[in-house]
Amino acid sequence: MLPSGKALVAGVMGWPVGHSRSPRLHGFWLREYGIDGAYVPLAVPPDRIEQAVRALPALGLRGANVTIPHKEAVVAALDRVEPAARRIGAVNTIVVLPDGTLEGRNTDGFGFIENLRAGAPGWRAVAGPAVVLGAGGAARAILVALADAGAPEIRLLNRTADRADRLADELGGPVRVLPWEARPAALDGAALVVNTTSQGMAGHPPLDIGLGALPPDAVVTDIVYTPLETPLLAAARARGNPVVDGLGMLLHQARPGFEAWFGRRPEVTPALRAFVLETT
Ligand code: ATR
Repeated sequence: MLPSGKALVAGVMGWPVGHSRSPRLHGFWLREYGIDGAYVPLAVPPDRIEQAVRALPALGLRGANVTIPHKEAVVAALDRVEPAARRIGAVNTIVVLPDGTLEGRNTDGFGFIENLRAGAPGWRAVAGPAVVLGAGGAARAILVALADAGAPEIRLLNRTADRADRLADELGGPVRVLPWEARPAALDGAALVVNTTSQGMAGHPPLDIGLGALPPDAVVTDIVYTPLETPLLAAARARGNPVVDGLGMLLHQARPGFEAWFGRRPEVTPALRAFVLETT
């Protein structure tokens, strides 16, 4: 249905925001469920992000997603930040509460775990060590999610060792840093391998890692989803490992926001995947 004057409104704040797939994703669900709502791109420059966030209640918006480069800066403009988002140090979902106050959440970790559960139903975080490659913003949310889900050991490897060390010091718990050069050996006995680096993305070289030491039942996933099957996933699939592509993380991370703003728990379906992929 087309939005009426009573439509519930939310959007995504980014700069630039034109590449965001979120309007298409939420638009699909609004149409699918016949909800009187709208989800719009909100192009907010960095020097106006706090002002824009504080204006959400005044504009009557239900909330917003937050994307690059605002995920860290928005924290200062919120009344309350959920504990997981605080630990990650970044917010991707803002909900305007009934009293007009602003709550920040981070649903990237939720999206990551839900995508694994959907794509590799036998996988359990507690089953064994996880190997995380890369130590950027995406890795942070994944490390927190894996630790919270009960991963007994998380082996963190990053080209720039310093960044991995700082992250491990900050997060503590099961996170253990290994040198980037130790990639092949780090896979020994692993139950999960996650690529959070940009390697393997269209236009970038593949992630350089030999999978020889990886147990045959270990799940391999990539947060890169252009292409959907990265060279890492193709190599893992060829040797029989279960693989989960990165598109599902994007789709699943959107679910909690949609439910909070529009009042219905949405589902990730093959039709949604196909619809979102039409633009990749
Ligand atoms: P995001 O916030 O999306 O995770 P990012 O902060 O730019 O993005 O992080 C990108 C990740 O890809 C980093 O772990 C980066 O490693 P460095 O910390 O050493 O920069 C990793 N990366 C980028 N190019 C790489 C390359 N050629 N080889 C290995 N890792 C690379």
